[in-house]
Amino acid sequence: MVKDHLPRLRRELELDVVLANGENASGGLGLSAKSAQELHRCGVDVLTTGNHVWKFPDIRPALENEPWLLRPGNYPASAPGRGAGVYELGENLPPLMVINLQGRTFMEAIDCPFAVAETLVAKAPPEAVIVVDMHAEATSEKRALVHLLRGRVQAVVGTHTHVQTNDARILDEMTGYISDLGMCGPEDSCLGMDNDIILRRFRTGLPQRFELAKGPCMLNGALMEVDNGQCRCISAWQYRAS
Ligand SMILES: [Fe+2]
Repeated sequence: MVKDHLPRLRRELELDVVLANGENASGGLGLSAKSAQELHRCGVDVLTTGNHVWKFPDIRPALENEPWLLRPGNYPASAPGRGAGVYELGENLPPLMVINLQGRTFMEAIDCPFAVAETLVAKAPPEAVIVVDMHAEATSEKRALVHLLRGRVQAVVGTHTHVQTNDARILDEMTGYISDLGMCGPEDSCLGMDNDIILRRFRTGLPQRFELAKGPCMLNGALMEVDNGQCRCISAWQYRAS
């Protein structure tokens, strides 16, 4: 879906930058170094990740070596890679800072995403546009993060649930927000996986080997526009193509 749609979307919508969370781009679970490179080559400028990023060991050196590839910044400092980056987008555009964080509700007990958010935002270059990917299960944790950062960053977007929410909005005439961007993957599925297998897992309580669902796919996300003068988010919409 990304390969088919992104080059056209970049052109038609005159996108200055494209961000994606790629943590499950390799067969629906995890991200290999090869898939990360593939996504980057077809037009994803910065790739964030989440709790499944560690599945393929070859992602670890890629996280260390590729500045466009991030992991949640609130993993312990000894984990490979980094949770934020600053990127030059070209002439007449402000620098972009991307921050990747992960929630702790119903997820691994890693460092506090709110404290790490404060630390990373404090390090942003003065003119930078800041976009935060909050990879979290609980909507309340994502809402709490945008409340912490409203008026200080240009966007907070949620990822991880695979289900797009219908709540794109702008807070304090500054900060674009959506609770979850949704996924790119098979439409008739349980979060991308084969429906029958997931149903069997719930009905039996036994572990199952997951398989990617087949059939038509969808591309979910959000489009946000930042005013080049005042650096405020001036429009935010959820986006879906199939
Ligand atoms: Fe996740």
